[in-house]
Amino acid sequence: MENLDQLRSDVLQRVSESETLEALDGVRVQALGKKGEITGLMKTLGGLDPEARKAAGQALNVVKQEVADAIEQRKAVLEEAALEAKLAEERIDVSLPARPAHVGRMHPISQTMEELVAIFGEMGFSVAQGPHIEDDFHNFTALNIPPEHPARQEFDTFYMNEKEDGSRPVLRTHTSPVQIRTMQNAEPPIRIIAPGRTFRADHDATHSPMFHQIEGLVIDTETNMGHLKGTLIEFCRSYFGVDDLPVRFRPSFFPFTEPSAEVDIGCTREGGQLKIGAGDDWLEILGSGMVHPKVLEACGIDSTKYQGFAFGMGVERIAMLKYGIPDLRTFYESDLRWMKHYGFVPLEMPSMVRGL
Ligand code: PHE
Repeated sequence: MENLDQLRSDVLQRVSESETLEALDGVRVQALGKKGEITGLMKTLGGLDPEARKAAGQALNVVKQEVADAIEQRKAVLEEAALEAKLAEERIDVSLPARPAHVGRMHPISQTMEELVAIFGEMGFSVAQGPHIEDDFHNFTALNIPPEHPARQEFDTFYMNEKEDGSRPVLRTHTSPVQIRTMQNAEPPIRIIAPGRTFRADHDATHSPMFHQIEGLVIDTETNMGHLKGTLIEFCRSYFGVDDLPVRFRPSFFPFTEPSAEVDIGCTREGGQLKIGAGDDWLEILGSGMVHPKVLEACGIDSTKYQGFAFGMGVERIAMLKYGIPDLRTFYESDLRWMKHYGFVPLEMPSMVRGL
């Protein structure tokens, strides 16, 4: 017991020198733990005579209490310091300017597709889809383009390798095979549009080997040329946003429609600048016609009972016209500067983020 004072001051010093909560806990275990120094002294009390035991016991208890109090106090100090450090580290500098929010752009093709779907959706059309790799029947034969028909040459078709049965799949040259697939699978009335990718072996400033079309098909018992005209006039005016846009129907030929018409919209080309709207010039934008009875029959639809119209147009072309994009090839170059210029800010972005 003679070194109790020494032990007391040692332990108190160790407590006050503890710099972390872990170190402090180590000191506590060393002094007051099961095998601790003070605990060890407690165990020696049993060997003393009663008088000495009482005095030593009291002294030891005082020291024990003192050490415990000192540890508690030091603990409070260290906890406070840890909290301060954490707060300092996590402090937010509210005077910093906000980080710029980089909002991506929507490609003009996607934007145009959405506009087309929205316009025809309002008119009651639903969206149909078909495969990019087609068979001869859907891409040609069912559309009244039999083998050896000269129209096949016009398409610059990409042919795939021959299959075991001798047939050669093609990359669809137009979206018209979706007409066939729809009519094979649904009973009239039919009212669909089919936007999607199409492929032709052709590449220059106005042609790309992969491009997009949108097809339309309406089949019912009474559907006639007047409906075709009304639908397409309404579409042209709505898409280009010109209420009195002149729309002209010019006789044409497609194997799968009879009669067929190409559709032109009014424009001016003064000073080499193309402007869409009333003017003295015309611009061709789509092909259309009344679905040929042979096409209906090829799909198992009774052509004495049902009739209708179809149309198809190039999405790049009408996007270029509406948004003043001069070169078709730039659509596929993935140039971010081009995207920043011609791309669209997605509408569903919260305006707060756009504002920042
Ligand atoms: N499929 C035709 C083309 O690619 C367009 C078209 C579709 C014409 C439907 C008439 C009817 O040129």
